[in-house]
Amino acid sequence: MKRIAVLTSGGDSSGMNACVRAVVRKALSENMDVVGIEKGYQGLIDRQYQIMTSRSVSGILQRGGTVLHSARCKAMMEEAGQKLAAENLLGLGVEGLIVIGGEGSLKGALSLSQRGIPAIGIPASIDNDIAFTDMSLGVDTALNNIIYAVDCLRDTASSHSRAFVVECMGRNSGYLTITAAVACGAEFAIIPEDPFRIDEICECLKSRYREGRDNSLIMVAEGAAKAQEIADQIKDQIGFETRLMVLGHYQRGGSPSVFDRLLGARFGVKAVDGLLQGKGGCMVGLTSGGITYTPLEEVFQAGLRPIDAAILRLAKTLVI
Ligand code: F6P
Repeated sequence: MKRIAVLTSGGDSSGMNACVRAVVRKALSENMDVVGIEKGYQGLIDRQYQIMTSRSVSGILQRGGTVLHSARCKAMMEEAGQKLAAENLLGLGVEGLIVIGGEGSLKGALSLSQRGIPAIGIPASIDNDIAFTDMSLGVDTALNNIIYAVDCLRDTASSHSRAFVVECMGRNSGYLTITAAVACGAEFAIIPEDPFRIDEICECLKSRYREGRDNSLIMVAEGAAKAQEIADQIKDQIGFETRLMVLGHYQRGGSPSVFDRLLGARFGVKAVDGLLQGKGGCMVGLTSGGITYTPLEEVFQAGLRPIDAAILRLAKTLVI
């Protein structure tokens, strides 16, 4: 294999740069050229790319976001877009592709593999909803961002005797919310995987207030409920001042944690090794501390990664 390409796609996540750097440096050490596709699949379709050198990835390890830029690309969900993407890769003399991104992006990698371009997927999404990996790239940094924000909110909540409703991202997954809730000592976590009754939550909050505890943190996953409605109901039913904080895209940015820097490096090197070993059509993943390959078809047959039973049990004891 003489030339490979790498792209970052979908929602960015911290650690993508560390991963791009590892891919480029590992490939160069194996005497391969690396084409950096810009703006994800959109850039592939529009032929936006750069030839990567060791210099082009220096100084990026500690930066959040992605120097290759990213995009959500509707065209890649259709046959015509996938065909054009494959043709453009062949036109560039690319013999293998590494895709760093979330579920939709990895589906694109599978479609290109099926069109004869060996592609390896690297799971990168703060949602942690991809099967066959214990952690996706960027999750740990997002959790650190969340707990920093929530610890700050706890300070002001306790000073003013207020309840704070904090909305976390995660699409249809409650992983970020429930994990951060345990780590922050939140009073409640509302997640899509676990049915909740707002009346019961309000009753518990009321009895807390009667016992003299005058501030609370209620974490809400964006896929579970409308955080503004939860805040309004808590305010109406309890009568205490309530504020809402939507953490939004703040969660995705910032310098990657040590965990994400190392995970990005390990995933990147393993993905290049995978291409060299003829493992196109696979995803790398973190399983019980080791880096594994799983065929992308199996990843999608499994569906989205369910919430960990262990973290849910922990939350039932300590949070909910
Ligand atoms: O998939 C990552 C994610 O951050 C989700 O948690 C969130 O729902 C979505 O992307 C936001 O997408 P966008 O950046 O396109 O607004």
